[in-house]
Amino acid sequence: MDISSDRKDVRSRAKFAYERIEVIWPEADDWSVHTREQIADCVARNLREREIAILNAGCGGNDYGLSSIGVCTNIDISFRQCRNLSNSMVGDIEALPFGTSRFDAVVCVGAVINYSEPYASIPELLRVTRSGGLLLLDFETTTSAELLFSNHWGKRVSVVERSYADRTDKTFLFSPDHIMRILDQYGAKIVHTHCYHTATAIWRRAFPTLRLPQSVLSSDRYVSQWPGIKLLASNITFVCQKN
Ligand SMILES: C[S@@+](CC[C@H](N)C(=O)[O-])C[C@H]1O[C@@H](n2cnc3c(N)ncnc32)[C@H](O)[C@@H]1O
Repeated sequence: MDISSDRKDVRSRAKFAYERIEVIWPEADDWSVHTREQIADCVARNLREREIAILNAGCGGNDYGLSSIGVCTNIDISFRQCRNLSNSMVGDIEALPFGTSRFDAVVCVGAVINYSEPYASIPELLRVTRSGGLLLLDFETTTSAELLFSNHWGKRVSVVERSYADRTDKTFLFSPDHIMRILDQYGAKIVHTHCYHTATAIWRRAFPTLRLPQSVLSSDRYVSQWPGIKLLASNITFVCQKN
């Protein structure tokens, strides 16, 4: 799929929307709360070292405690999403204003790359990561159970429009293989894969209009590790090491 025609639209709509969104993960939305918890867990498990230079790319007003782990620089395409974080600036993950190998770890979570062309953003995120450093890259998949039997399912890249924070959000979705191939091509080795939103995605596919039960939400962290089933995860974080 040629995404060049959608690329500008996705980016300008993201910028417009995030200049208006106050709370990225609303407490009243169980799906969002679970997303945030899973990301926070993954960040805490993989970044423990102290006094390292970290880039929080597409910060969205959240630093997941990164500033207590190291010296954290936050960047976002939206000014609003930067204003409450110290050491933050407006910028684009497709053209980062930093030197090569500037950071020990780069965190790009909350499906930020789903608003970008991954052939532009992933090489850029890796360029600013030092050799041997970590990149935590989180994205939404086309292989989600939620998309089973739809036109999007399994595609390398697809474009979706969905309701989010009272507006229609337009994003790309990617197959895990597509992202893995780009990471490999640009010299990153995946050392750990964190899948989540699997049980929840299956529930949503089966009962799209029903509220997510607490039992489904709390079982998701286990279901998302089951071999086979985890291939239907809606969200994946690849923990990568730059060669
Ligand atoms: C769903 S939020 C996630 C925010 C944060 N990383 C988190 O996990 O809470 C997506 C963020 O990506 C930002 N974003 C979208 N496209 C971007 C780009 N090309 N460069 C930098 N930030 C971008 C948006 O402004 C928004 O703040």
